Amino acid sequence: MFSESLIRLKEKNLLREIKNHNSPQGSRISMNGKNYINFSSNDYLGLASQPRLIESSRKAIETFGFGSGASRLLCGGSILHDELEKKTAEFKGTESALIFNSGYSANTGIIPAIADEGDVIFSDELNHASIVDGCRLSRAKKIIYRHKDIGHLSELIKKEKVKREIIITDSVFSMDGDIAPLKDIYELCLTLNSTLSIPNFLLYIDDAHGTGVLGQGKGALAHFGIKSEPWIIQMGTFSKALGSFGAFAAGNKDTIEWILNTARSFIFSTALPSCVAAASIAALEVIEKEPELVNKLWTNREQAVHGITKLGYDIMGSETPIIPVRTGTVEEALQISQHLMENGILAPAIRPPSVREPRIRITVTAAHTAEDIESLIKALSL
Ligand SMILES: Cc1ncc(COP(=O)(O)O)c(C=O)c1O
Repeated sequence: MFSESLIRLKEKNLLREIKNHNSPQGSRISMNGKNYINFSSNDYLGLASQPRLIESSRKAIETFGFGSGASRLLCGGSILHDELEKKTAEFKGTESALIFNSGYSANTGIIPAIADEGDVIFSDELNHASIVDGCRLSRAKKIIYRHKDIGHLSELIKKEKVKREIIITDSVFSMDGDIAPLKDIYELCLTLNSTLSIPNFLLYIDDAHGTGVLGQGKGALAHFGIKSEPWIIQMGTFSKALGSFGAFAAGNKDTIEWILNTARSFIFSTALPSCVAAASIAALEVIEKEPELVNKLWTNREQAVHGITKLGYDIMGSETPIIPVRTGTVEEALQISQHLMENGILAPAIRPPSVREPRIRITVTAAHTAEDIESLIKALSL
C-alpha cells in the first residue's frame, strides 16, 4: 500500500531506519558487533547507565513491581510519582509540578490544556515537532515568529488583542543547539502583563535540552537569572540530561492543577512505572550533589567546538553541547556520517523534514573523555 511512497523516500535518500545497539546507553556503544564512540545521544550528563539510577530503579521494582496498571487518576500513581513532583518543583523553583509520560505527550497535552479557542499562540519557527503538534491540537490561533526574532514577535503581538496570548519557545533548540533569547521574551511579557490586573501573556518554555545542561543543571531560567512567575509554565524532560524517562510541567499551583484536570495525555494514559520515577529522583539528586558533572559537560563542549571549528566547519550558531555541523546536501550528510561510522564514531545525519538544512548532529556529554573528542575531531578531518 505504501510501497511506492517508500521507494520515493529511498530515491531522495530520506528513508529512515532504526539502529539497534546491544550495550547500555553511554559514551561507548556497541552495534552489530562493532564498538563506537557515541556522539548521538541526549544523555548529556552520562546518567542513563549511572549505578545510582539503576539501583534506585531496581529497589522500586522490588517494592512496587513493574507496571503501574492505570492512569494516575484511576490508581496508577505511587508515592514515588508524588515525591518526584515535589522534587521537580523544588529543583525548578516553582510551587508545583506534574509528571507526564514523555516530552512528546507533555507538549501535546499541556498546550491544548492552556490554549483554547479565542486564544493566540506565538510559536518560534524552529520549535520542536511536539510543540507544533500540541499547537495543532489546541483550538487557538497559531502565529509563527521568525527564529529567535524578538522584534518580529513584538510586532506580531501588537496586532493581536485577545483574552489570552501564549508565547511558546524551546529553551535550547534541539537540532541547532542555540539558546532562545529568554531574557528578552521574559521582559516583553513582564511589560505587557504589568498594565493588566490579571496577566494575559503566558510564557511556555520547553526546557527539554536546558534541564541538566544550563544554569548549573537547573535549566534555562536559572541560566538567565529569571525567577519563576505565575504566568510562566516550564516543561522539561527526564529523558535527556537526566538519563531517565518521562517529562514534567512546572509552574504555579493553580496552573498545574488546571493541567492535571484537562491535559488529555495525562488523564487518558497509564502512569509511568514507579521504577522510572525512582530513577528520575536519583538523577535530580546526582545533579545537585555532583555539580562537577555539568562543568565537565561544558569543558568537553568547549574542546569539541574548538577542534571542529578549527577544521573549518560551520557549527550553525551552536551555543550548547548540541553541535550541528553543516554539510550542504543530504548525500553529503549521509556520506560524512558513514565515514564517521567507519572510523568508530556514531553521529547521525539529520535530514529534512526533521530540519530544513541537512547536517551532522554531534552531541557531547560529560561521559566523553578528552581522547574521545580527539578521535571525533580526527575523524572529521576528512
Ligand atoms: C525540545 C524537545 N521537546 C520535547 C521532546 C520530546 O521529549 P521525549 O523524547 O521525552 O518525548 C524532545 C525530544 O527530542 C525535544 O527535543
